Amino acid sequence: MFSERLLTWYETAQRDLPWRSKIKNPYHTWLSEIMLQQTTVATVIPYFKKFLQKWPTVEALGKASLDDVLVEWQGLGYYSRARNLHKCAQSLAKEFPTTEEDLTKLPGIGPYTAAAIASIAFGQSAAAVDGNVIRVMSRYYALPTPKPIGEVKNRLITLLPQKRCGDFTEALMELGALVCTPKTPFCQECPFQRDCTAYRLGEVENFPVKVQKQKLPTRYATAFMIRREDGALLLRKRPPHGLLGGMMEVPTTPWEENRKLGGGPTIRHTFTHFHFEVEVSALSDTGLFEGIWVHPEELKNYALPTVMKKIIKVGLKAL
Ligand code: ADE
Repeated sequence: MFSERLLTWYETAQRDLPWRSKIKNPYHTWLSEIMLQQTTVATVIPYFKKFLQKWPTVEALGKASLDDVLVEWQGLGYYSRARNLHKCAQSLAKEFPTTEEDLTKLPGIGPYTAAAIASIAFGQSAAAVDGNVIRVMSRYYALPTPKPIGEVKNRLITLLPQKRCGDFTEALMELGALVCTPKTPFCQECPFQRDCTAYRLGEVENFPVKVQKQKLPTRYATAFMIRREDGALLLRKRPPHGLLGGMMEVPTTPWEENRKLGGGPTIRHTFTHFHFEVEVSALSDTGLFEGIWVHPEELKNYALPTVMKKIIKVGLKAL
């Protein structure tokens, strides 16, 4: 049976991690799961220990100031996690709810984290699907689509054991972290080698299926560096809505797909839906463009998007 084989493997293979005590403490489980989002186990360990030392209970964390929490979080990144962590600690009436559904209602707890806490801390049969689990299951079943979260969740629910659901959740993540790794997985050490569909097909490396990177179109424009005699640069404000809404820009020609640029200095930038190539050109002030005059040393006081910073940097240097 899938779960038995997985749990047997886990008994000998699992790492000794500070949040894996025999007696489960929901606060510890929650704190570790929030910290482990987008962050590696090795990075998290010292932070986890420091937090527990400073705030041994969730009540203590709720009573801390947000500034103190943010200071301790420094270096872990994605600071909205720390803000939600603090908000969640404050909003808990007394104890953590125990079901996946109720946990999802708390700040910063999404479907994955809710299922992880429900199973690990409370032994509930909940299927936690993170990147590790998607990889393991995508290979095991040779799932043909990228990011098959719903599919994996449904299949996992049929594989959950009667008991030890928390160990099952951690074991599957552990298999993904230690054996079924993204690159050159250690299939010889895998308890599921002979059943793994991707392995039998000789296509382990082709799963999970990657999200198709869509080919982006390229738009072209000429940006005008218009300088006043005293060195000030003409900037204008973009319309309030749409791409880079309300931010400042150097005047440009319309951004168009079907044109070629001349041979002047060029910068490239990629937006979500298109690549952008811009030729930077000096232009004397003919009054054609309206805007404000900004001295180069004052640029830091304006909301300039990265693409405009690139243009200005090249423009000030080359022209
Ligand atoms: N990544 C996310 N949750 C984890 C856990 N409980 N143990 C190890 N790695 C993890």
